[in-house]
Formats: sequence, structure tokens, C-alpha cells
Amino acid sequence: MKKFQEVKQHLAAHQYHWLITGVAGFIGSNLLEALLRLNQKVTGLDNFSTGHQHNLDQVREAVGADKWQNFAFMEGDIRKLEDCAIACKEVDYVLHHAALGSVSRSIEDPILTNANNVTGFLNILVASRDALVKRFVYAASSSTYGDHAALPKVESVIGNPLSPYAATKYVNELYANVFARCYGIETIGLRYFNIFGPRQDPNGAYAAVIPQWIAALINNQPLYINGDGETSRDFCFIENVIQANLLAATADKDAANQVYNVALNDRTSLNQLHEMMRLLLLEKFPHLHEHRPQYVGFRAGDIRNSQADITKARTLLGFEPTHRIGEGLKQAMAWYVRHLAPTI
Ligand SMILES: NC(=O)c1ccc[n+]([C@@H]2O[C@H](COP(=O)([O-])OP(=O)(O)OC[C@H]3O[C@@H](n4cnc5c(N)ncnc54)[C@H](O)[C@@H]3O)[C@@H](O)[C@H]2O)c1
Repeated sequence: MKKFQEVKQHLAAHQYHWLITGVAGFIGSNLLEALLRLNQKVTGLDNFSTGHQHNLDQVREAVGADKWQNFAFMEGDIRKLEDCAIACKEVDYVLHHAALGSVSRSIEDPILTNANNVTGFLNILVASRDALVKRFVYAASSSTYGDHAALPKVESVIGNPLSPYAATKYVNELYANVFARCYGIETIGLRYFNIFGPRQDPNGAYAAVIPQWIAALINNQPLYINGDGETSRDFCFIENVIQANLLAATADKDAANQVYNVALNDRTSLNQLHEMMRLLLLEKFPHLHEHRPQYVGFRAGDIRNSQADITKARTLLGFEPTHRIGEGLKQAMAWYVRHLAPTI
């Protein structure tokens, strides 16, 4: 926490120019809110493929008109190099989060996933290099651990990717390394485990488990668990991700050109997650007394268990997660109840 406090104090006194790609999405809009609150100047790029204008509207409301003036939004596509070049102009730090998430989507449409996650990544990396940015921080993924079964996951030991999505995220890491070697650009990859929090989209076929389940629980709809419910994940609240990004952007040069796990070093099974969420919502939604999940088949491309070793981020970045899963769920639930069931 000490390092993060120092970084926040420094930023509050010095204004830098940040580019957030994927700014209308879940993680991007939360990064935007945090940076505007710290009086930073931000350019945001998004094509609204999975992001929403209402996420930006909520940030504007949260930070107020004065701070909102420090934000410039550009509707554009990272698959177009010209858009990336315009967005990177005079930028100090890039937080690259535009991509198509979801393992299932990538299995259904690997070409679309590759275009966004690999071609798009390369374009924004080239544009960042050409704009001489101070640092390029990007969203990597725990899916890169693939079929390597050992727990907890340590950055240096990975297996084979289990989906096209995982392959694209690994290619991001390879390109970032090569660009550091060939062109001297400083990069940091943040291998996110399962991130959750306000503004994560509960709708659509590819929604992440926590928002999807919250919507199902609140609306008393069937809730499906893929497999036997003993699949586990290291769920990580968005506040910890904001911390990791600000630390990564501003860390010493020695910490650059590496990847870091961003999670809690915790493990929660889907059965445990369901029970935690049911209990948190029970008081407001008495129908949940009887609520039981329905079990369906395992999903292709999913890894069985996941848990991060976060020693590297702690040591080299000064990362100290502030929100464990219970605390994060409480905050996320309160937000979803306000937005999905506003009359209750
Ligand atoms: N949420 C997680 O648990 C998690 C885990 C691991 C990695 N990640 C990575 O973090 C990043 C952000 O994820 P998120 O959960 O906020 O997803 P999200 O879908 O909410 O946000 C992604 C944003 O990128 C935008 N985008 C997609 N393709 C684009 C393109 N071609 N040009 C411009 N904008 C484009 C979308 O419109 C959206 O606003 C992604 O790179 C994702 O792969 C997320």
C-alpha cells in the first residue's frame, strides 16, 4: 500500500497524458475513473464492440464536470493503424485494454479474436513505439498458463494454450518482449486472473461468471454451473487491478519488460462462489433461500483450477491487494443491485 500511496501522491501533483484503449469496457472505464480522480489527462479509444456509452456516462457522473474536461474520447478501432497513431499522439503512458475477451467466443470465431487481439495489439504497440511513450502496459491473461496444472501459477512456468483466446494473449507477451529488444520500448504485461467489479457486463452469451450470476440471482432466473462446481479461480476485485496498472506504469525501469500476475493468491470454487453470492443477496432477495444452481457440462477450453503466485508483483511493483474476494463481492453486489434492481 505504501508504494501505491506514493504513486497516487506523485500523480496528484503531476499531470501526465494517458491513453486507455478499451475505455468504454469494464476495466477500461474503471481505470478512466481512477485517473480522472487523480487529475490526469486521459485519451480513450474504443469501438464499442463490447463496451458501452453508459459506462462512460457513469464515469462522467462520478468524477464531475471539471475532471471530465481532462478526458478526450476517440471512437476508433485498434485494427486500424491510423486510429492507433492518432490516439497515441503526445501520450506518456498507454494502458492497453481493448481486446475481445471470452474463451468461448474465440473458439467460435478465432479469426475475429485474432484480428482484435493480435493485429490490434501489434498496431497499438507500433503506434506507441513511434510516439515514444514512456511505458506500454497491457492486459495479459492467466489463460496463458494453459494446460500447466501446478498451483500456484508462477510467471516463468507456463503450459500450452487451451483456446484461441489464450494463444492471442500469449502472442501479445511475445510481441511486447520482441519490441523491447528490437526498439527499446518499455512494456509491462499484467496477467489478469478473473477480474470482477462494477460495470462488468452481465448481458450477452459471453458474459463473465460473476455479473451473469448476480443478474440471475436478483431476477430469480436459473443459474448454470459448468461442470461439477469444483472448478476454481483466483477472483480479483477491480480496485486491485487499478493499483497494478498505476504501479506498472510508474515502476522503475528494472521492473519493465516483464509480465506480472494480478490476483490475490486465493482460490474459490464455483460452488463456494455461488454460496457467497447467495448469502450476500439473501436479505434483500428472500427468494434466494431456496436457490440452487443447475449443473451443466464442462466448457471447452476452460482450465480446471487457477491460483496466482503474486510474489513477483509484490516484490518488483510494490503490489499489495487491498480487496479480498468477500470485500470485493460486497461492493460489486451493492453496485449491481443499484443498477439492475433499482426499485428494491
Ligand atoms: N475481465 C477479466 O477477467 C479479464 C481477465 C484477463 C484478461 N482480461 C483482459 O482485460 C482487457 C479488458 O477486459 P474487460 O473485461 O474490461 O473487457 P470489456 O469487453 O468490458 O472491454 C474491452 C473493451 O475493448 C473494446 N474493444 C474491443 N475491440 C476493440 C477494437 N478493435 N478497437 C477498439 N476498442 C475495442 C470494447 O468495445 C470494450 O469496450 C481485455 O484485454 C481482456 O482480454 C480481462
